[in-house]
Amino acid sequence: MTIHHFLNTQDWTRSELDTLLSQAAEFKRNKFGRELEGRSIALLFFNPSMRTRTSFELGAQQLGGHAVVLQPGKDAWGIEFDVGTVMDGEAEEHIAEVARVLSRYVDMIGVRAFPKFQQWAVDREDRVLKSFAKYATVPIINLETITHPCQELAHILALQEHLGELKNRKYVLTWTYHPKPLNTAVANSALMIATRFGMDVTLLCPTPEYALDPRYMDFAKQNAVENGGSLTISHDVESAYRDAHVIYAKSWGALPYFGRWEQEKPIREAHRHFMVDEAKMALTDNAVFSHCLPLRRNIKATDAVMDSPRCIAIDEAENRLHVQKAVMARLMVR
Ligand code: CP
Repeated sequence: MTIHHFLNTQDWTRSELDTLLSQAAEFKRNKFGRELEGRSIALLFFNPSMRTRTSFELGAQQLGGHAVVLQPGKDAWGIEFDVGTVMDGEAEEHIAEVARVLSRYVDMIGVRAFPKFQQWAVDREDRVLKSFAKYATVPIINLETITHPCQELAHILALQEHLGELKNRKYVLTWTYHPKPLNTAVANSALMIATRFGMDVTLLCPTPEYALDPRYMDFAKQNAVENGGSLTISHDVESAYRDAHVIYAKSWGALPYFGRWEQEKPIREAHRHFMVDEAKMALTDNAVFSHCLPLRRNIKATDAVMDSPRCIAIDEAENRLHVQKAVMARLMVR
């Protein structure tokens, strides 16, 4: 039997995504239900979280279910993912057992596992998530690995709430400075979901080296063709912001510099001026601003932008609760 996972929105049809968003809107109006009565989910966090952990735990509880949070290597045994390896290192058990044992206890498994930031060629294989999907006998939910599909749904729901129809709205995904090289997951996801909803998308980044992985650029190009939108790459701040309807900010490390970040740092430092500020927002067509959070104020966006009525980041964060309830409920009826 094929298990339907929630690993990437590209695996779901537009009609299925629309159904999830409608269900999420319904959960926003009516918070409590019995859709997960007697059901449970294990949430495995290999990296920190505030929003994802809180919203999944509460979401399960509000639908009558139960969530168990595990942090492998911290409050649960470390896990080995290599096949055929002699396990004489730190890991006490193998994914082949972990995924199958958890599948006997719970009805769904959520996994957060960020890249290691040493070799993109390795990280792009998304091995932790794929290993859970390989060995588990229950649906797997991506809680952010190299994409962040739950964030995508929360983002698009917030945009629909504030802008209505999204087709051919000008959407700018802008890279912003951060002192550390960060995951490209939310940026990959933003391109995929914005093009999926037919928006005219500009990827604004400092240099061509900050383009995203071809896999996600290609998904976005294909989505743009299929949904009547467009995808453009720009390195010019002023023209990118001009007449935009959406500014979505995210910082990420340039893929060619994985494992030699000291060489990327000067490029990042030279583009601190990509911070979202009032002057840039004034170029837009009264755009809404958002970010997945967490966000360093006055590094990625100014206080004035974050405190503006056009900032919808808190609405997007709230929507994580509603969309994840929709995802969990849907996976349980398949
Ligand atoms: N946006 C997001 O996933 O937040 P957390 O890292 O706090 O879960």
